[in-house]
Amino acid sequence: MSTQSDNRFQAIISHAKEYGFVFQSSEIYDGLSAVYDYGPYGCELKKNIRDYWWKSMTQMHENIVGVDAAIFMHPTTWKASGHVDNFSDPMIDNKDSKKRYRVDHLLEAYADQLEEKGEAEKAKTILATMDALLAKEDYAGLKQLIIDNNIKCSISGTCNWTDIRQFNLMFDTKLGSVTDEADTIYLRPETAQGIFVNFLNVQKTARMKIPFGIAQTGKAFRNEIVARQFIFRMREFEQMEMQFFVRPGTEGDWYKFWKEERLKWHLSLGIPAEKYRYHDHVKLAHYAKEACDIEFEFPMGFKEVEGIHSRSDFDLSQHQLYSKKKQQYFDADVDPTTGKPYGNYVPYVIETSIGLDRMCLLVMSNAYDEETINKEDGTTDSRVVMHIPEKIAPVKLAILPLTKKDGLPELARELMDACKGSFRCFYEEKDAIGKRYRRQDAIGTPFCVTIDHQTKEDGTVTIRYRDSMQQERVHMSKLKSIVLEAIS
Ligand code: GLY
Repeated sequence: MSTQSDNRFQAIISHAKEYGFVFQSSEIYDGLSAVYDYGPYGCELKKNIRDYWWKSMTQMHENIVGVDAAIFMHPTTWKASGHVDNFSDPMIDNKDSKKRYRVDHLLEAYADQLEEKGEAEKAKTILATMDALLAKEDYAGLKQLIIDNNIKCSISGTCNWTDIRQFNLMFDTKLGSVTDEADTIYLRPETAQGIFVNFLNVQKTARMKIPFGIAQTGKAFRNEIVARQFIFRMREFEQMEMQFFVRPGTEGDWYKFWKEERLKWHLSLGIPAEKYRYHDHVKLAHYAKEACDIEFEFPMGFKEVEGIHSRSDFDLSQHQLYSKKKQQYFDADVDPTTGKPYGNYVPYVIETSIGLDRMCLLVMSNAYDEETINKEDGTTDSRVVMHIPEKIAPVKLAILPLTKKDGLPELARELMDACKGSFRCFYEEKDAIGKRYRRQDAIGTPFCVTIDHQTKEDGTVTIRYRDSMQQERVHMSKLKSIVLEAIS
């Protein structure tokens, strides 16, 4: 990361804390590594993103319904899904500092340093070699790559590395009151399995016909060894996943469809297309047939925000095998090549999986702006403004009486009562109006209205737009529809 982007990232992290978006977990006890809490504006932003995803996936797609499965699942789920045996990352320890690194992170960090030094070609070659070695699970080759490039531990400064080993990322705990008699269960590392084990329950009760999808949002847990970069990689995080069940043979077309559809969702928030790119996977997860990431240009570079995976019939077949219960669908549609119904089969699955916390970081980093304002008198001023898309902004409308007297607060309260049932409003009468505008800019409120003495005369208020800082007078009665139109 360049110093400039590092500074920008640090500024966003400080802003997130100062303005009530994100706090370090248990901060009074010096925090818990890679665990974060959302504050008053962060939790509104997170909820708005979750709602926007939920609405666009379920309400806007008649063939997608939701579930809300438990975090705890029968332990055999994770044997069947492959997570007990395969959900691990290759790690390497430095023998002098005892610090453990994820091998891909160590090599990526080295490639970033090379890029900063203007050695982009060498960086590219190292990353391509790493991808090829990871795909072959060639750990001796990966260690050699680290040694050949003389990659050092950032703490000890030495190149004294252990062999590369795999570490499982699932957290386990005990279910039951007596520890030694209790069963070991896992905190789910993905929400997807709660969808797969409910496939037939959902299909039958909601009378779904293939192709159809099941959506779910919820917490997932991974014991990341190298958890870093603020809310980008957390040990407790939230996913928004959708599994789309299709007839075998049609998965290629549906994979392409969801790859495009999901990028459209990101762009529908007005975030510039040039900040996004696809990254097709070389090394596939144990369940995947084809997979890609939608990457976003975060302050620390292009990183994954969402994954689209063609999972074949892997998960349902595995659950069929381990539960000994058929996970089949009867397809009554007629196959034109045989003239007969397609009949029974285990459906294939296309998955879309997005990290909600990453999406919050994406929105905050895209929105954060330190602006210089040229004033009419020739002087300059500055402001920090969060250009958060209106529809997901934590607060939509700030209602600000110019003074605390002369009946202005009463009029402002009337407006508040008329609007607060429809969207999140904020009321404030303290401090100079300029200061109040700046505080709203800092949390990304798209509209502020000022109630002044003229309001008493003719019922008009001043509406001030966050991004342009333009102001105009409109009648109070129009406010609600102006805001509703902007956020719909
Ligand atoms: N369900 C896919 C993932 O968690 O990445």
